[in-house]
Amino acid sequence: MARKKQFNVGSKMRHLITNINPRSPISEQYRTVRTNLQFASVDNEVRSMLLTSAGPAEGKSMTTANLAVVYAQQGKKVLLVDADLRKPTIHYTFRLDNLRGLSNILVGETTLEETVGTSDITNLDVISCGPIPPNPSELLGSRRMQAFIETVKEKYDMVIFDMPPVLAVTDAKILANYVDGAILVVRSKKTENEAAKQALEALESVHANVLGVVLNDRDKKEANYYYYYGS
Ligand SMILES: Nc1ncnc2c1ncn2[C@@H]1O[C@H](COP(=O)(O)OP(=O)(O)OP(=O)(O)O)[C@@H](O)[C@H]1O
Ligand SMILES: [Mg+2]
Repeated sequence: MARKKQFNVGSKMRHLITNINPRSPISEQYRTVRTNLQFASVDNEVRSMLLTSAGPAEGKSMTTANLAVVYAQQGKKVLLVDADLRKPTIHYTFRLDNLRGLSNILVGETTLEETVGTSDITNLDVISCGPIPPNPSELLGSRRMQAFIETVKEKYDMVIFDMPPVLAVTDAKILANYVDGAILVVRSKKTENEAAKQALEALESVHANVLGVVLNDRDKKEANYYYYYGS
């Protein structure tokens, strides 16, 4: 069981709005994403998904963590996995020490039971990245990764993976083959249209089941406008 951090992680501390303030309009938006995903996967049950984006800092990790929380709040048994083995952040969000994580499982050093951490949130377990490996793509494409996904899908109702940017490295494209669906996070006013298009094409080129696009950081006024009209 991953231990909780005893020391202050300072500026790297991240807060989960869906946990701190579940009634806020932002939390409501995350629940809307959850509902839309459930409608999008009505024919083929989605039990594992990854989130990626075209480039860095578009809000992948924040969206992944909040989505995991709203699924758990719905009573689903959820596992959140930090599969960004290059720039991991999930351990900061959940204040885990990251001494053990996915990378240890993938090299056969630890078992799932030894590695999984509990969060303060009911129904939500977390696997952080663990020590950063020199060969992330190779590990994510390994047979151990496939076996890991099969195992966790039996134990959890929903498994959600945080990934690196899809245009920068191949990791998300590799994992897209092993999970039931992929979500693209696009940051309003930051992501170039062309980059978003290329990111979608990159996922489609590996026959990923693209479940949808999450528009992050949309203008508040604009968001209220659409919210009012129920869009
Ligand atoms: N809608 C938002 N409003 C305010 N801050 C945001 C928003 N979305 C993301 N951020 C901030 O932007 C930074 C990057 O977010 P996050 O780490 O979730 O992105 P990422 O896509 O996972 O980045 P990376 O490519 O480095 O993994 C964080 O400091 C986060 O708090
Ligand atoms: Mg991230």
